[in-house]
Amino acid sequence: MKIELIENKVFFNTGSLKKEIHPFWLRERINGDEYLDKKTQQRLFDPTTLNNNISIKKANISNNLLEIDFNDGVNSKLDIEKLLQDFSSEDVVINSIEKIKWNSTFKNIKKFEYKETLFESKEMYDLLVTFYNYGFVIIKNVPTEDNFIVKFANSVGSVRRTNFGEYFDVKSKPDPNDLAYTSLALAPHTDNPYRNPVPCIQLLHCIENEVKGGFSTLVDGFTVTEDLKKENPDFYKILTEVKVKFKFIDNEVILESWSSLIELDNEKNFKQVRFSPRLDFVPILDKKNLDLYYKARKRISEMYNSEKYRIEFKLSPKDLLMMDNYRLLHGRTSYETKDGKRFLKGCYIDYDSTEGKIRHLKRKFNF
Ligand SMILES: [Fe+2]
Repeated sequence: MKIELIENKVFFNTGSLKKEIHPFWLRERINGDEYLDKKTQQRLFDPTTLNNNISIKKANISNNLLEIDFNDGVNSKLDIEKLLQDFSSEDVVINSIEKIKWNSTFKNIKKFEYKETLFESKEMYDLLVTFYNYGFVIIKNVPTEDNFIVKFANSVGSVRRTNFGEYFDVKSKPDPNDLAYTSLALAPHTDNPYRNPVPCIQLLHCIENEVKGGFSTLVDGFTVTEDLKKENPDFYKILTEVKVKFKFIDNEVILESWSSLIELDNEKNFKQVRFSPRLDFVPILDKKNLDLYYKARKRISEMYNSEKYRIEFKLSPKDLLMMDNYRLLHGRTSYETKDGKRFLKGCYIDYDSTEGKIRHLKRKFNF
């Protein structure tokens, strides 16, 4: 890709395609000290107040700089490399990380070791790339004192506080308001589908795990939905289209969100799964459509619960599991409370945390 000039018009040329660049697009990007704050890279002017009839009076390319005199009297030298980077209409940093599908045959779970300098290190960058590859990552030896999970979350980005608080304790307790707080097995599910937006990432920090059983389970919703698309396109389609109501009720709040079990992005690619079959309410549809919907939901539930897709592992004290709540389903096997204690702490962060951190580390280490 390169930039060319023809009679004071600026073109980009990909080799097979040549198109004129709108003068206003270039005018918005002027970078003199009076127009752009160098530190924040924020504009010092409001482009919506400019006259739309911006044109180029004179343009010249030298030393990788495009120098332009605009018709409103402004002159600027634009870095051609930077302009070329701006041609992408998607987030190249995050979208260039490969999403690797996995199922029960996935064995080599990459683990990272906590150290005080982790958050600003190259290892943190690797950790986040691994997280985006597989939808989860395990960090060993994370201190457990003073709710360290919150500090961990705030060192990657910011805790996503909910009505459950900054963090929550997962241990069996009397009179629980959620099955998470019993010793029963928990089938694969995603967390909080009734929130808008759903928390993106869940951190679970193992404080104690002395029980037999109590294994953590994970399923890759990306793998399952891609398999379902091949196996039964009609099932896949209706699960992407029908919005069901997810609801949570307690004394202080009623949370409700209408969403599909499989959500796609604008390009019809995988975006998010939601699955919590104790909280979903299917709308009234034609009997024929409901017939298809219930079959489809049953099938995806069978797949999520199948051993073919599930991995199981036991978290040890100080292990911190970071998982993508939009991509993975999580659960646990049952355990006996008489064996000893099982105690995990959990909290949420959002994608802006991981995305912001990964871009920052990429800039810092010049990757
Ligand atoms: Fe959960």
